Amino acid sequence: MNRIVRFLLVLLLLGISCFAKAQENTVFVYSPDERSGLHIAVNESDGWHHLGQLCGSDYGPWGAEKRMHDPSLCHVSDGSWRLVFAVNNHAPLFAAAYSPDLVTWRPQDYPRVGSRQCWQPVVRSTNSGFDVFYVSDGQTYRVRASIDFRRFSAEEKVDKAADCVPARTEVTIGDKVFRGQKFVISDDEMEKIRAHFQQLSTDAQLSSERMYDDTKNLLWLTEPVSATLSVNLTQEKTISDKLIGIFFEDISYAADGGLYAEMVQNRDFEYSERDRHKWTATTAWHSSSPITVATDNPLSEQNPHHALIGNETLWNEGWDGMAVEKGKKYDFSIYVRGTKAFTVQLQTENGTTIAQSTVKAVGNKWRRYQTVLTAKATDAKTRLVIVPQGKNRVAIDMVSLFPQETFKNRKNGLRRDLAETIAALHPKFMRFPGGCMSHGQGMDNIYHWNETVGPLHERKPAMNIWHYHQTRGLGFFEYFQFCEDIGAEPLPVLAAGVPCQNSDANTEGVAGQQGGIPMEQMPAYIDELCNLIDWANGDPATNKWAKIRADAGHPAPFNLKYIGIGNEDIIGTVFEERYTMICQALHERHPEIKVCGTVGPFHYPSADYIEGWKLCRQHPELQYMTDEHYYESTGWFLHHRDYYDSYPREGTKVYLGEWAASTHVKRPNVETALAEAIYLTDIERNGDVVEMTSYAPMLCKRSNANWDPDMIYFTNTTVRTTPAYEVQRIFSVYGGDRYVGTELKDISAELKHRIAASVVRDSKTGRRYLKLVNALPVELNVQVEGVQLPATVKCEQLTGAIDDQNARAEVIETNKPTTLPPYSLRVIEL
Ligand code: AHR
Repeated sequence: MNRIVRFLLVLLLLGISCFAKAQENTVFVYSPDERSGLHIAVNESDGWHHLGQLCGSDYGPWGAEKRMHDPSLCHVSDGSWRLVFAVNNHAPLFAAAYSPDLVTWRPQDYPRVGSRQCWQPVVRSTNSGFDVFYVSDGQTYRVRASIDFRRFSAEEKVDKAADCVPARTEVTIGDKVFRGQKFVISDDEMEKIRAHFQQLSTDAQLSSERMYDDTKNLLWLTEPVSATLSVNLTQEKTISDKLIGIFFEDISYAADGGLYAEMVQNRDFEYSERDRHKWTATTAWHSSSPITVATDNPLSEQNPHHALIGNETLWNEGWDGMAVEKGKKYDFSIYVRGTKAFTVQLQTENGTTIAQSTVKAVGNKWRRYQTVLTAKATDAKTRLVIVPQGKNRVAIDMVSLFPQETFKNRKNGLRRDLAETIAALHPKFMRFPGGCMSHGQGMDNIYHWNETVGPLHERKPAMNIWHYHQTRGLGFFEYFQFCEDIGAEPLPVLAAGVPCQNSDANTEGVAGQQGGIPMEQMPAYIDELCNLIDWANGDPATNKWAKIRADAGHPAPFNLKYIGIGNEDIIGTVFEERYTMICQALHERHPEIKVCGTVGPFHYPSADYIEGWKLCRQHPELQYMTDEHYYESTGWFLHHRDYYDSYPREGTKVYLGEWAASTHVKRPNVETALAEAIYLTDIERNGDVVEMTSYAPMLCKRSNANWDPDMIYFTNTTVRTTPAYEVQRIFSVYGGDRYVGTELKDISAELKHRIAASVVRDSKTGRRYLKLVNALPVELNVQVEGVQLPATVKCEQLTGAIDDQNARAEVIETNKPTTLPPYSLRVIEL
């Protein structure tokens, strides 16, 4: 073979191998339907194979939105990707996303355009960045985008050019034909994508483990299991002394109709269609003739609506009735504009009057009148009846009935039974007022703390994102007072300049974060946040906000130390700009305040989590800690016990602000509680990086549940704690600020994740607590080394059938301190 022939042969072989590689790594990216997001398939020798979902649409509310139409991708020479897609056929925006590798995605941005529709968007690489073309009303437009895909120009009309036509092809996967784009990717890229889906599938497999299935899967396990626990009392590390707190969100009627002891529903006549379909200013009120509502000369600007009444009887149904107890006293109050006498009664459903008094109003100005009703009988479903005398019409507003017995007997106080149940958790802090409730349903529903303090009638009531009405009678003063009463640090969480990413569309057709607070209004919003710190901590003699606090009855500072900014937001560009601006301002103006950020609604590897933590790593000085959220299966918790082991020990700390295990049943039971207990032992071990944790929403009124799981379920007359509550209480009451070195050994690898132990010491009291968890269907015998246990111990134990929702911890006395029954948690003082 001469040299030339050999050379040509080599070229041919190279060509064949390149071709083979290209064949092997040809992928097809497409959206199977508008609800399924972006998927990837790979071409293999026997045809196209679906690999999985790359990302979904994060735009707008669940249900109506979160759709992806006509995705268009651009593979850039540096290996990164740009994606655009339409979110619907009427919003004046498109979705834009960046990915370095198709595996991880930066949270989506939704650039605004002037036209009312952005259809069939296409992204093309240019010399200076990207062009995005889209069609609106038959006209083609172009938007120019920066290289980093964060800045987008205003749109301009362009002629329909070849460039604007998406290069889509059809591919058959299984027996279906899809339209999408084909790309050739490198072996490294392919390997990463395959490894990602492999990891997701292994994870899903592990996370599907349920104790519920133990009767099938662990049939072989019939004998007690044994293990050795080695405790090294000389090996200690400092951990957070605020590990267990509570999360109060006004969700599921947790505030009005719940913890807030007001018994009159719609006391301010401010209910409206905006709160809930068919609600009006007279919802929950009844009369023999139609109730007239007026807005002229109101009691306050914030409460424009009031009722006009002549001699017709008016009654209020309360929240599923009003529960009263024989012999107990109830404070009735009413604002009246006009002269009239009223008889005020509590009546049972069959019309029997069990309490009665009178008030006499005089004058033509708004004035507050009050009286006390004493119940002559116990009844769970009374109603408040107002019988006016004389035909003249007067205006009434802010009709209120409060039990005199509230938590710590505070006026405008909290339901005693619920508050005491919460206090028994001994929470180290309380996060409030939400959740999604804090950042609200669209821009005009962002929670403004300053609208919730001051005299009740001057507070601004508002729609609740969970579809009911907030009087704000439980406002920031009451939250702070409650924190002080139960010894918890207040952790108010306020919006990061953006509303909830799941918000409905505004009048311009923009849903989700709706573009956030305009940048020119951000300085005023930042002032509002700083005013909260003045209100809580300032000197009433020199600060007007602190004076409002003092006027409300609390001249001493509340000693606010933490503030949360944002709640599981999309960490897109709109968020990042506003959030960073807020954090920088707080850092400059209030360096004493510890700021808590947010990293989205899911754990690793979600886009918001990755981008949120990136921000923390870039600016640890701005974020003392950041708020992670995850609601997961019991199997997930059992198989992610090392989740925090690899977190950097320096820099921003973790606040696990919302978390819970759940099963197909949703409500907490012994299975979920044990998975949480196991995970909490791992969190104690990582208490040097995890600063705080708080369980899922704390309260849920059974008749008005928006969310499951919750820690405490209640009705007007009952309070039902859950196994999750017991676990939180045990880890809170038997907590410590030092983690003592322990090692669990001599257990078979396949059972290891179901057994846990941790030892903590409280340096103030010197007490040491050992927590042991056995999430197996058989007894567990633990041999303890390194510490002498008494022969008999008195300790708390939670155990029960795994589906038991009513199991409660009990104090037991045992001479087998470290022999645990099947499915149990035990805490022993060492
Ligand atoms: O806890 C209920 C909701 O769950 C919260 O409002 C939100 O933060 C989370 O998605």
